[in-house]
Amino acid sequence: MPKKQIIHEQWSSRLAFVLAATGSAVGLGNIWKFPYITGENGGGAFVLVYLMCICLIGIPIMMAEIMLGRRGQQSPVGAMRTLALESGVSSHWAVLGAVGIVAGILIMSFYSVIAGWAVSYMLEAALGHFNGLTGETAGAKLGGLLGDPLQLTFWHTIFSAMTAFVVARGVRSGLEKAVQILMPLLFVLLLIMLGYAISTGYFMQGLQFLFAVDFAKLTPEAILTALGHAFFTLSLGMGAIMVYGSYMPKGASIAKTTFIIAILDTLVALMAGMAIFPLVFANGLEAGAGPGLVFVTLPIAFGEMFGGALFGTLFFLLLVFAAWTSAISLIEPATAWLSENRGMKRSTAAYAVTFVCWALGLVTVMSFSSWSFSFHFAGAEKTDGMFDVLDILTSTFMLPLGGLAIAIFTGWVMKQVYVRDEIRLGQGVFAVWYQVIRWVAPLLLLYLFIHSLGFA
Ligand code: TRP
Repeated sequence: MPKKQIIHEQWSSRLAFVLAATGSAVGLGNIWKFPYITGENGGGAFVLVYLMCICLIGIPIMMAEIMLGRRGQQSPVGAMRTLALESGVSSHWAVLGAVGIVAGILIMSFYSVIAGWAVSYMLEAALGHFNGLTGETAGAKLGGLLGDPLQLTFWHTIFSAMTAFVVARGVRSGLEKAVQILMPLLFVLLLIMLGYAISTGYFMQGLQFLFAVDFAKLTPEAILTALGHAFFTLSLGMGAIMVYGSYMPKGASIAKTTFIIAILDTLVALMAGMAIFPLVFANGLEAGAGPGLVFVTLPIAFGEMFGGALFGTLFFLLLVFAAWTSAISLIEPATAWLSENRGMKRSTAAYAVTFVCWALGLVTVMSFSSWSFSFHFAGAEKTDGMFDVLDILTSTFMLPLGGLAIAIFTGWVMKQVYVRDEIRLGQGVFAVWYQVIRWVAPLLLLYLFIHSLGFA
């Protein structure tokens, strides 16, 4: 057996772990997906359910997933097997790790296509192509990109290559430093966009849309989407954060780290929402426009504002970076597993996994033009065909069910002494978290699921 080579062994400190995990959490999910699904699902009530899912389900399960990784010390498959054996139950729990690996590959396949849009828009911004865009011309611009499979494939290939490159090489201090600079910069740029949004005079309308709760607008589909997105945005339920946890220093507090990551992640999403919806209303656009929302609204703003070419380029550069640090965590579990168990070189494993994701991604590329079809899901009409199918399959089903399994394993299967030993919380706090992981998180998750799918 070759020695286990794990990229994040090189990320030495507690801060490095927080950065890596925040880099994984903050990505397209916050800036691209959150605004568009919020728009599609009517705003306020959806946001409230999403925040509730983050607090009551996401955070407790994230603590559990990190804990499993840190105790298991291997890829999700190996970690689950080791932990199951340690607690004297069937090693079949390893299947959970395997399902996670598949989910990561499926997500990566479309994630890198969307990240490709951002790469392309970075260039467009730099070339000053956003000048004078209106709602209509901005829509047409995106439409032009989506309707051109060759162009989409080109950018998708570039992003895939970037990801493979980093994972193959291992995350050295270069990326660690980059994340340290780029993450705060992303924050600053979001603040600038927020300032611009305020200047449009439609800021209150944006806030109203995001935070005024009207339960009448809450469809079954919205509840499921909010639940799924809580997992997606925290990188939860498929072993990504488990693998990262396995590289976490023993002394670091799992609870504190989890809170920091969840708060930063939620803040970025809410800021993106507050920056984007005023633009939607100021330009008379459709809040429920779907996956193109951010790629239509922001270019209009960059085209109008002072220094827009510079800010636009910077913004999409940072978006690409945020997507990049997320994407590496999507293929890390598969890569770690291949290099642990198949004796494959780490770089070979990374390229092989990326190739599979890239090839699958072509399905998403085509789904925006010739292969699009519509179907119904939980009472809503979906129109981008395979892109939507993949998105719903992973975010709405695989991640929450993976999370449910993690909660059940942690709360009911693993011996409590081991959980307590690893999670290291004071008596009282531990007791609360433990009951939440045993009862609240799984039951609420199941309830939302069953209720929304119309069985109860
Ligand atoms: N959280 C990332 C985002 O919001 C996406 C992501 C990275 C992810 N790793 C993951 C989603 C693992 C689910 C599981 O963009």
